[in-house]
Amino acid sequence: MLQSVQGVLVAGARGDSAAVRIAARPAGMAMAADPELEALLPADWMALALDTHRAFDSLPAVGPDAAAILAGLGRITGRCNACHAMYRLEIR
Ligand code: HEC
Repeated sequence: MLQSVQGVLVAGARGDSAAVRIAARPAGMAMAADPELEALLPADWMALALDTHRAFDSLPAVGPDAAAILAGLGRITGRCNACHAMYRLEIR
């Protein structure tokens, strides 16, 4: 997802919405389907994770305006930070 954030920033700075779409795709819903892993995750996690993937999918719809793309990315990274503040992975 960090890779998508970087790609969106680079493409968004140019106002290139086609490149924003390409950069956002790997962090979207299509990449989020892993039923075995999902069964292990708490409901709050799933809600936040799906919300984040959907936000990447809808980001290209803001269009080519760099400020709008940046605002969308600001909302997305708020979700990254919210989850990182709540959860840690433990190796057992
Ligand atoms: C639903 C929860 C959740 C969301 C949303 C989330 N993350 Fe994470 N992410 C985690 C957890 C948990 C870890 C592991 C953190 C730890 O144990 O220290 C992690 C780790 C990472 C790491 C370190 C990976 C590594 O290989 O060491 C990066 C980079 C990262 N997240 C980026 C992002 C970005 C960028 C976003 C938002 C676009 C995001 N994450 C959204 C849960 C989430």
